[in-house]
Amino acid sequence: MSSSSGGPDLEARTTTPALERGISLGGALARRDGRPGWEIRQRHLAAIAAAGFDFVRLPVRSWGHAPGDGLLETVAALVDAAWAERLAVIVTMHHADEVDADPSGTAAELAGWWRRIAAHFAAASGPLAFELLNEPCMPAREWNALLPAALGAVREADATRPVIVGGADASSVAGLRELELPPDEHLVATVHYYEPFRFTHQGASWEPGSEAWAGTVWGSDADHAAVTADLESAAAWARRHGVPLLAGEFGTIERADQPSRVRWTRWVRTELERLGVPWAYWDFASDFGAYDLERGEWRADLLGALIASGPPTYRTR
Ligand code: BGC
Repeated sequence: MSSSSGGPDLEARTTTPALERGISLGGALARRDGRPGWEIRQRHLAAIAAAGFDFVRLPVRSWGHAPGDGLLETVAALVDAAWAERLAVIVTMHHADEVDADPSGTAAELAGWWRRIAAHFAAASGPLAFELLNEPCMPAREWNALLPAALGAVREADATRPVIVGGADASSVAGLRELELPPDEHLVATVHYYEPFRFTHQGASWEPGSEAWAGTVWGSDADHAAVTADLESAAAWARRHGVPLLAGEFGTIERADQPSRVRWTRWVRTELERLGVPWAYWDFASDFGAYDLERGEWRADLLGALIASGPPTYRTR
């Protein structure tokens, strides 16, 4: 990611040029029980690269997988497939609500996975970063205490791999302010942006009470100003701490009013770019998706809000 813009320096170990625009492959290797999944194919990665993105974020849910059951090989194959399209990759561990702070329980499992993943990729020279835990949802003090162990597991095998870390409170701007970064020269802070939550998550099946938010629209001057203030505050935190910042997730659920979604997406994206913050849209093809898996094509209005040059003219199937 562009170091000139102050963003994460993923390319430090690679020959890849500036990396700034990404998209998450949500719902494939990490999905909530009961929600539909999908399989990442080469043509999807090709469509992402051709649309103008330069990295993908690959959510992985390791819980319930035993070491050696093939998950690591699946991840490695997808990383190779993305590299074949000249896409950089962030491997990110979901779902944080299944991790607790007990250092001998799931936290040890988390460190174990990172030890294996980091060792597997230690000699790899392609553009790759690790995000230790997506949206930690334990109290900040517990997450700040666990973080050095998870980071240490990566560092045992790889001293310079870029590692991405978000704060508690689901990596919100508020969570970022409470994040305590261990001393390490290859850390990237991340923030997830879904404000106003009642707009972006209206009707989300996993958010109790969110049906009542249906019909919330977005687009007033005050709405725009609130987003700007939030993002400026996140960027200022990163400057103060001398750490690159990545907006690792932002997006809106398909239930929301489409013109509002497009307005919000364009505004968040252009404000991040104005602030020199690389971003990854949530996501490619889940219920927030910018891509229609069934039709095999981008949702042109959302893609146009993300990539200034607008949608490509090709179609993939
Ligand atoms: C979670 C997804 C969720 C998305 C939007 C992600 O970080 O892993 O399950 O759909 O955020 O809330």
